[in-house]
This record gives sequence, structure tokens and C-alpha cells, in this order.
Amino acid sequence: MTILAIRHGGPETLPEYQTHFAAFAPALGVRHWDDPSLDPAEVAYALIWGRDPGRLARMVNLKAIFSPGAGVEHIVNDPTWPAHIPLVRMFTDGFARRMGEYAILGALALMKDLPRNIAAQQAQRWDQFDPEPIAPEMRVGILGMGNLGSATASMMRAFGFPVAGWSASRKDIPGVESFAGMSELPAFLARTDMLVMMLPDTAATKGLMNAASLALLPRGAGVVNAGRGPQLVLADLVAALDAGHLRGAFLDVFDPEPPPADHVVWRHPRIIMTPHNAAFDTRRERARYVANAILAHQRGEPLPNLYQPARGY
Ligand code: NDP
Ligand code: OXD
Repeated sequence: MTILAIRHGGPETLPEYQTHFAAFAPALGVRHWDDPSLDPAEVAYALIWGRDPGRLARMVNLKAIFSPGAGVEHIVNDPTWPAHIPLVRMFTDGFARRMGEYAILGALALMKDLPRNIAAQQAQRWDQFDPEPIAPEMRVGILGMGNLGSATASMMRAFGFPVAGWSASRKDIPGVESFAGMSELPAFLARTDMLVMMLPDTAATKGLMNAASLALLPRGAGVVNAGRGPQLVLADLVAALDAGHLRGAFLDVFDPEPPPADHVVWRHPRIIMTPHNAAFDTRRERARYVANAILAHQRGEPLPNLYQPARGY
């Protein structure tokens, strides 16, 4: 029997996963990562979230590794991970839809000055004000135009925001202006009132948004970070908020997660935080994606959405 080992949630998630996999790939044996009777050599496929250094390397008959998320740094940052094994990143319609909804939520929250409303409610103060901007006046700029960024761009455009995207390579998405590479980052930032960050965590993206790059955003711009914490230098963001250069920030990702209890982001009046839950798949969606990929792989067909070591994502 072909074995899939799962490390995503505790053993209590296994029965639900087994039910879904039984529907999509009935011949697959689905075991929990921490099952003491699991022989590493019998594992053909692994679905793994989070770090367990050295463990994948002991699975000597692995055929493919699946990340239950789009990000794979939790796997590739383990120096012992078997880099010759194909690594599949998650992508489903539900995943993209949730990310697009999160970006719209963040953009609207900052545009309508939700932080001010929250502060007023907490102080039991009737603070009536008119949040003026409307979507067609808020130029959205999406950092990262991959699976999630491009789906988000289309959703935000449909909502009425003028949208541009920045990526390593140029894109051709109807109605979405494309900027590519470091040389075009300043022009992209200069035309962006609402920055939506959706980049992978790589050496090249660490610290990308810092004091100098945040200063290129127009005064009154907002920042939504749904990519990864290391892309945004939090101290520089807080300084830009305190100086009144930025209107607010809507943050889902941090470095580390969660931020330390005494970190200013927990109580900053211009920051709304969410606990790294912008986008995800249900266990059913995830099982369908992984099962279909395994079945295709067993038929000799290519695996989808592979990590490419040369580019780091
Ligand atoms: P993709 O690999 O499909 O897209 C990545 C995008 O980033 C591509 O457009 C790529 O450009 C661009 N990019 C990467 N490095 C650079 C760089 N140095 N300069 C310019 N552009 C760059 O990934 P996904 O869209 O599936 O996911 C993106 C990220 O979102 C994940 O890696 C993860 O970090 C984050 N995420 C966060 C979640 C959350 O809940 N907060 C949930 C899911 C994902 P190009 O297209 O030219 O290759
Ligand atoms: C992901 C995430 O990478 O949830 O998918 O952050």
C-alpha cells in the first residue's frame, strides 16, 4: 500500500483527513507523522507543515513532499531536507478566494479607518467622522503576482480598485498594470495608495519594505501584509505610522509569530492584527488537491506548482 504521512495539526485531525482521502484516493494509506509504528522507509508521500529537522531525510523512499501552504520555507530551511525530491506547494480556488477576500478586507478597513472606529468604541466615544476615499480612488499595488497575488488582483479590480502588481517577471493580466524587478519597484511604490504584500519568504524579499521603500509610498498610504513577516521591517513601519506618513497597517504575518508580548504591534492604534490566517484550505480541499496530484504522479504525469530551488519559491 502507498503511504502518505501527514504532519499538519495533531493526531486528532487524522480521522477527518482519512475520510477525505478515502473519497479522493481510496487506495492510499494515510498515517499520522507521529504514529510510533510508522516506519520512515515505508512513506512514499509526505504532507508536512512546520519544522521537524532531519525527519524527511530519514524517509528514504519518498517520491514527493507536499506543503499544506503556499510557503515552503518551513521545509527548505531545514538543511537536511531531501532537495532532490519534488516539493509541491498548495494552490486551490478556495485558497485564492480567501486571500483575495483578506486583501479586500484589509484595504477596506484601512480606507474606512476602522482603527479609529475600534479605538472610539473601546473608549465609549461617539467619534463621528466621514471616511472619504472610495475604492476607485485607492490605487492598490500588490507585491507578488503569483497564484495568490494575481487572483487577488482580479478580485480587487472587480471591486473597483485600480490595481497594479509587482513581480520578478512581467505579467499580462487584463486591466492590471505590471511592474517587474527591483528597477521598477520605486515607480510601483510611488503610484500605490494601498500596498498589499503577497511575496514568498526568500533571501531577496527579506527586509524589502523598510524605511527607505516605505518612504516611497505616497503620504496616507496603507499597508496590508499577508506574505511573510520578514518582508516588512516592523520598526520602520511603526516609525512611518507614528510620523503620519502611513494611514495604517493590516498585518497577518510577523517575525517571529506570535510577536513578543511586549511588542508595540499588539497595542498600536493604527495597526490591526490577524493571527496568520489570511488564506488557507479546508482539510477537504487540501486532501482533494494532494490526492489528485498523487494519482497523477502515479500515472506518470507531472506534479503541479513545484518549488523551484533556483528562484527560492
Ligand atoms: P507564487 O510562487 O505563486 O508567487 C510568488 C510571487 O512573488 C510571484 O509573482 C513572483 O514573481 C514574486 N516574487 C518572488 N520573489 C520576488 C522578488 N525577489 N522580486 C519580485 N517578485 C518576486 O506564490 P503564491 O502566490 O502561491 O504565495 C505567495 C506567498 O504568500 C507565499 O509564499 C506565502 O509566503 C504567502 N502566503 C501567506 C498566507 C497567509 O495566510 N498569510 C497564505 C498563503 C500564502 P514571478 O511571478 O515573476 O515568479
Ligand atoms: C501559506 C500560509 O504559506 O498559510 O500557505 O502561510
